[in-house]
Amino acid sequence: MKRRWQLALRLLPLAGLIALLSGCGVKGVSTLDPMGDVAKEQAWLMIFSLLIMVVVVLVVGFIFFYVLIRYRNRKGQEDYIPKQVEGNTVLEVIWTVIPILLLCILAFPTVKQTFALSDVSVPKADKNKVVQVEVTAHQYWWQFKYPDKKVETAQDLVVPVGKTVIFKITSADVTHSFWAPALGGKVDANPGQTTTLKLKADHEGVYRGRCAELCGASHALMYFNVKAVSQADFNQWIKDMKKGPAAPTTASAKEGQELFKQNCMTCHAVGKDGGPVAPNLTDFADRKMIGGTMDHTKENLVKWITNPSAEKPGVTMPARGQSGKLTDDQIQKIADYLFTLTVK
Ligand code: CUA
Repeated sequence: MKRRWQLALRLLPLAGLIALLSGCGVKGVSTLDPMGDVAKEQAWLMIFSLLIMVVVVLVVGFIFFYVLIRYRNRKGQEDYIPKQVEGNTVLEVIWTVIPILLLCILAFPTVKQTFALSDVSVPKADKNKVVQVEVTAHQYWWQFKYPDKKVETAQDLVVPVGKTVIFKITSADVTHSFWAPALGGKVDANPGQTTTLKLKADHEGVYRGRCAELCGASHALMYFNVKAVSQADFNQWIKDMKKGPAAPTTASAKEGQELFKQNCMTCHAVGKDGGPVAPNLTDFADRKMIGGTMDHTKENLVKWITNPSAEKPGVTMPARGQSGKLTDDQIQKIADYLFTLTVK
């Protein structure tokens, strides 16, 4: 008995650590802290099914302990065998029917919501009431296009609060999965296929999104942000994105722009100019992270341009620093230019 208590005491710090760590995490990434209609419906379903399971565990646990105590082997009851009930029709029917009923209770709202949430058709008259976004997942970044607004961005998605956003999702390479937990939904991004999803944000804020399907070495670093802003701010953002960022003013940023044109625009675009294979950088300076992983500082941007795969293994962007043709000074200038790319 004493040894058992000693073991329990030894496990106490571990239990404490688990309790402590369960409080960690970034705000806006939990399905149990829903920030929009779709997420709320899904959270309700999860809690509802959890409640059913808790009731089942309590009932089964109660019966288990009741039988354990009531029919325990008492003193003077050597070789006591309780009454055997195998093949009892009434009992068999009861424990077959109850799970079927529970599954039906769970299935009804689940199937109903699955169909409701997968319906992304929009009547023509309601075209202005929704925002359409085309998502393309890449190893390891996210491309966001607003087809009816002719605007493209990457990594940081901007959506208006209170409006349904309809996503058409695909992949440029392998299978990824688009997931913004606090806003609900999670859907695979498959090459050569388009999947759909609809979401809505109720409150302004920045919600973390991520890839939820193992897609390669930097799968765990494939983050994005959803910035939910007011309708007025969204309209302004679209206008500003179309206009593009102002021209750089400092000598260093101007030189950086020239270097960027010569070295980076085969892949990257700013506004409509440049290549389509890497993130569009029109509003780069307004974003929250460098490469989806690092804090948004110039120092980190220089590190990224110098050798991106040191930060995000497996990226297709080549190292441009050290022996990669650009000098440290040139990279500093390009970073200066990129930090002028704001549409605020
Ligand atoms: Cu993309 Cu995991």
